[in-house]
Amino acid sequence: MNENLAEKAVKLSLQNISHSYTDTSGQSMEAINNISLNIKDGEFVAIVGSSGCGKSTLLNIMCGILEPSQGSVLLDGHALRNAKSKIGYISQMDTLLPWRRVIKNVALGLEIEGKSKKERLQIAKELIETSGLSGFEDKYPFELSGGMRKRVIIIRALAQNPDVIFMDEPFGPLDIFTKTMLQQEILKIWSEHKNTIIYITHDIAEAIVLADRIILLSYRPATIKAEYKVELPRPRIIEECKYNPYFLELEKEIWDTIKEDVKIAQQEEFYNNAKKNI
Ligand SMILES: Nc1ncnc2c1ncn2[C@@H]1O[C@H](COP(=O)(O)OP(=O)(O)O)[C@@H](O)[C@H]1O
Ligand SMILES: [Mg+2]
Repeated sequence: MNENLAEKAVKLSLQNISHSYTDTSGQSMEAINNISLNIKDGEFVAIVGSSGCGKSTLLNIMCGILEPSQGSVLLDGHALRNAKSKIGYISQMDTLLPWRRVIKNVALGLEIEGKSKKERLQIAKELIETSGLSGFEDKYPFELSGGMRKRVIIIRALAQNPDVIFMDEPFGPLDIFTKTMLQQEILKIWSEHKNTIIYITHDIAEAIVLADRIILLSYRPATIKAEYKVELPRPRIIEECKYNPYFLELEKEIWDTIKEDVKIAQQEEFYNNAKKNI
């Protein structure tokens, strides 16, 4: 548990957020319905929901990539475009630039910020070292394993020292061993840097071992279906957390709450795939 949260200021505030998409035939589809949420400075919040429920849409609204149809997002009490805090974003996709070596991928954001070559290479080198990627500085992304590429993506975001980091299912396609190792690294980084993290996942276990608080979204249009404080002590050792009776109880409680939505999501996915194949 993050003991200090009670005294912390609100970092990010979502106020009555709704969002609709219009499809190619002009039909409107409501993805998010009236979500309000306050996230504290230094809090680790996981947002969990079934596939297609609107998680990425909500995250993109939170970090300013997508303008909501209704409602507002405040960072440190200001509209996102006026906010002074730095934002980091790690998406589901492998976003490394294939023509850049590891070190130049890590330094990319710093280059865009206009940092000197000396400074950006020094920051990138340090991060490469602390994340166990020494010796791979001059490799191209295709020469790395999936887990290593993810690490490069994470340290590229960290290089700019963001106050708030948004992560959209960052470890989705990885095997469980690599995933556990990277989750442990995220916890270490977070405990050192004290950033605010908003972490999207459909993996309930992942949400429990990482977060201070879990926000459970309903199926579309996404609303907040339930909220859970995670009372596991910190620092956490991920493999050990999973044998804790509290973990198992909370996992079951969340699963029981979400399973009907998962069924609906699966039926819809099945229906959409069947339509495509007609
Ligand atoms: N740019 C878009 N245009 C139209 N529909 C979209 C767009 N992005 C997402 N959607 C739809 O909005 C719903 C929610 O999508 P998304 O937020 O990606 O869900 P999740 O991340 O939970 O899987 C889905 O039905 C998806 O097909
Ligand atoms: Mg998504």
